[in-house]
Amino acid sequence: MTADELRSKYIEFFKTKGHAQIQGKSLIPENDPTVLFTTAGMHPLVPYLLGQEHPAGKRLVDFQKCIRTGDIDAVGDPSHLTFFEMLGNWSLGDYFKEGAIKMSFEFLTSQEWLGIPAEKLGVTVFAGDENACRDEESAEVWKSLGIKPERIAYRPKEDNWWGPAGTTGPCGPDSEMFYDFGKEPCGPGCGPGCSCGKWLEIWNDVFMQYNKTAPGADGSPGTYEPLARKCVDTGMGIERTVTILTGKKSVYDTEIFAGIREAVEKAAGYTYGTDGEKDKSVRIVCDHARSATFILGDPKAVSPSNVGAGYVLRRLIRRAVRHGRKLGIPDQQQVLPPVARVVVDQFRGPYPELGENQHFIIEELTKEENKFQETLTKGVHEFEKLLPNLLKDPRKIMSGRLAFKLYDTYGFPIELTGELAREKDMTVNRDEFDEAFKKHQELSRTQGGAGFKGGLVDHGEIATRYHTATHLLHKALRIVLGDHAAQKGSNITAERMRFDFSHNAPMTAEEIQRVLDIVNEQIKRNLPVSMEVMSLDEAKAGGAIALFGEKYESQVKVYTIGDFSKEVCGGPHVEHTGDLGTFKIQKEQSSSAGVRRIRAVLE
Ligand code: ALA
Repeated sequence: MTADELRSKYIEFFKTKGHAQIQGKSLIPENDPTVLFTTAGMHPLVPYLLGQEHPAGKRLVDFQKCIRTGDIDAVGDPSHLTFFEMLGNWSLGDYFKEGAIKMSFEFLTSQEWLGIPAEKLGVTVFAGDENACRDEESAEVWKSLGIKPERIAYRPKEDNWWGPAGTTGPCGPDSEMFYDFGKEPCGPGCGPGCSCGKWLEIWNDVFMQYNKTAPGADGSPGTYEPLARKCVDTGMGIERTVTILTGKKSVYDTEIFAGIREAVEKAAGYTYGTDGEKDKSVRIVCDHARSATFILGDPKAVSPSNVGAGYVLRRLIRRAVRHGRKLGIPDQQQVLPPVARVVVDQFRGPYPELGENQHFIIEELTKEENKFQETLTKGVHEFEKLLPNLLKDPRKIMSGRLAFKLYDTYGFPIELTGELAREKDMTVNRDEFDEAFKKHQELSRTQGGAGFKGGLVDHGEIATRYHTATHLLHKALRIVLGDHAAQKGSNITAERMRFDFSHNAPMTAEEIQRVLDIVNEQIKRNLPVSMEVMSLDEAKAGGAIALFGEKYESQVKVYTIGDFSKEVCGGPHVEHTGDLGTFKIQKEQSSSAGVRRIRAVLE
């Protein structure tokens, strides 16, 4: 069975059960700030799961493009993907556990539909906790359909509870369906849900019962509020289901990836299946190229950038290029565009937007690849400059700190530094690199840098930019509003910065514009940022801003931005303000009495 056939069958089956087909939505969620990408078919349906009436009725079915990047580093193994298609059916206050499970079972096992032997299936149900009871109800339905009790595993909240990737929204216990590859159990505890490779999850029925509310400002946890009506949300992974239906071991062996893989193999002059390491690189290029094509082909496409979804896209493209080079695709040859063309042709039927945006997709991929190639070339050049000194070391070890500097300053990936070193019979002190990297991350975190929602870890570059922007904003506010506009707090995530400062009235539109003009002017001037260590008294005497009430060490770092700002701060900061991009204020609002809050982004 092909993906196209599975998509059609699923929709058809649920139509026979009274479901209305609705359109899948954008990969970039419209009204859900808790995620960067649509990670499941339910995201666009959140308002309806929370109680709104859906114009198409109470029973819905669709197919939805999804991106999950939490496992990006696991991509390369036989089963992980960052982009996948999800088939889903919903009940909005209509059928619940029994109805959902019976329909799932029929679709999976009936000869008329998928015809999977029931004895190849196993399921999990929720084991129960203070929020919802042990799900004997679902277990009984599965048993009544012929699933043997030993193939029904009870699992805790970490495994059998579904809610959106963010912290709030509709959620509830679920029952997951697994295919048994027939391998020997890995041990006495091995059952559906075990990750030993025997079981593959193909479908999930979620019984939406609660709305999880946000944690309080006082640190109290959110609560589970019962939904106005109970709903069902299900999701079947197309790639995995096609894998088992066609007797394959890996999603990359299915027809879904056949053409895509061939394009990679052709560009690299490599035959898949001959070298384990290279096969992994092929899978990474296949997956990342497909994801990047879908992100760029979306009606709400983002371009590669240093924030939010754009940053995820950038990482996908860059990682694919790196692995393309590893496979032997020469520097002068683009890695992604030829693969993207295959993706567009293959998927433009169900996703016409890919065809419509083909030109944009190829153009953006080409631009980003060229830019990254420059980074790589510059990194190689810097490495070569270091080489004469490095070769003097009789132990032939390159210091990890030096490797980190190449990474930090030029964005040069450590793996490449390692490769260049190996070519010269040298090794890189990886422990030292990891230590420097960790320290840098910790520093960014304590300075307000945050991890990415959706799983990608911020390596500090973005937080660093926002950090420098904070100094520019602080100084600009003092110029426009007066010296009383002192920093009261700041918070930085990968997507935005927040800055609290003392001021008694809302800022006027004109004041906001002046602040913006000043900050962007300093960015345009590309001012150098320098740092000196001195005593706090010296710093103050030199005119550096220090935060009132803040505890400082006896020796402090003072960061100076050209002739514009001087502030006591732990860093880290960019080297030149030109690296920041464009500064935009999204919101100016009250934070508490006498304190205003600005939310701003760099684009
Ligand atoms: N939303 C559920 C999932 O993604 C169906 O597993």
